[in-house]
Amino acid sequence: MTVVVIVGSQWGDEGKGKLTHYLGPDFDLVVRFQGGSNAGHTVKTHGETYKFNLLPSAILYPDRTCLMADGMVVNPARLLDEIKFLKKKNLWGDNLRIGSHAHLVMPYHILLDELEEKRLGGRAIGTTKQGIGPCYADKFARLGIQIGDLLHPSALRERLGTVVELKNAMLKGVYNHDEPYSVDGLYDNLMRAAETLGPLVVSSVETVRGHIEQGNSVLCEGAQGALLDVDYGTYPFVTSSHTVAAGACLGTGISVSEINKVIGVSKAYTTRVGNGVFPSELTGETGNHMRERGLEYGTTTGRPRRCGWLDLVLLRYTLKIHGCTELALTKIDVLDGLKTVKVVGSYRKNGSTSTITEISDRQLSQCEPVYEEFKGWEGPISGARSEEELPPELVRFVDFVEQEVGVPIRMLSLGPDHDETVWRIPKIQI
Ligand code: IMP
Repeated sequence: MTVVVIVGSQWGDEGKGKLTHYLGPDFDLVVRFQGGSNAGHTVKTHGETYKFNLLPSAILYPDRTCLMADGMVVNPARLLDEIKFLKKKNLWGDNLRIGSHAHLVMPYHILLDELEEKRLGGRAIGTTKQGIGPCYADKFARLGIQIGDLLHPSALRERLGTVVELKNAMLKGVYNHDEPYSVDGLYDNLMRAAETLGPLVVSSVETVRGHIEQGNSVLCEGAQGALLDVDYGTYPFVTSSHTVAAGACLGTGISVSEINKVIGVSKAYTTRVGNGVFPSELTGETGNHMRERGLEYGTTTGRPRRCGWLDLVLLRYTLKIHGCTELALTKIDVLDGLKTVKVVGSYRKNGSTSTITEISDRQLSQCEPVYEEFKGWEGPISGARSEEELPPELVRFVDFVEQEVGVPIRMLSLGPDHDETVWRIPKIQI
């Protein structure tokens, strides 16, 4: 039995989908444990590119069970679209299961997300407007609707009545929104969704525990990145779930002691979508180089991503919080052709070297990055299949990062395709 967690070690979009899809065939069960359609996972395989917001990246392996576990928030309309797409392409393997305690993202969550961002104006979070924050807020206020409720229509209708009354009052009172939601309309839509989704609903805990107890291997696929964690990220400019590796336990029912490996994923540079502090952000030519070469536009929203140098102060922090046993360094090819490559080695605050004791938007805003510089490499590197085929400048860069963060870098991703990968010895072993 092996339980592996793959997690983002920056502000999301690190390339977790490629690694999950790559390792997927080695696992019996692949689980998403937090977030919802705010995530965007791109998987490139057999010359085709697939983008999923909700489905686990291993969904294209029909003989592997994919679970959207209890910690997730699920927009039923978006999920039905993704299932429909796979069915149309003849790729639907009926291998999806959904944890009964996962919460439903309702239309009023999406509207509240939009209205609240508008109300915040210049202080907006820059959310994906997928209703994620309002849905998790309802979960913790015990006002949520769980996907398992779809199987109990009369109780669901009664609960909707109580919750929708409050939502309509809030929409009118706080946001002056005059179009109340109808309980009947919401209920009818949910009942239609239940025809397809109802048969997929299972107990997350039973599913996961069943696999573990049979000695099967389980892969937990994180969404977003540690710096967007609601407690350990750059609050308040974060998402509303636990994106750190421990979130895999909270969101699935796997116990902490059952996790064997935590693989952190980081780009060779940094990106961020949405607002908030970004000490190594590049607004000029080099940032544009990264954005255009790296196709740094949001999978969910299409927004251009902010780009900057790799930040080792932040990476050291996130790898510790995750408890990473190894690191995958991705999109290295994007840096091809740059004369100089930099990383943040430390921060300066009020003129002297600063020790970071906590990560928050406030704390980081007061820090100035101190860079280490490396000679760049020519490229293209995407054709390399072993470390010996890589330019020595790049090997020096990777060795430096590895030494600084104190976690072995096993996988170097040199492009979106599966085979554009160099495994450093030893390859990640499952
Ligand atoms: P929310 O998750 O939509 O509430 O957005 C909160 C913050 O997290 C915003 O800055 C988003 O841009 C960011 N965010 C959410 N999901 C992702 C993701 O999958 N990749 C990168 N950033 C994300």
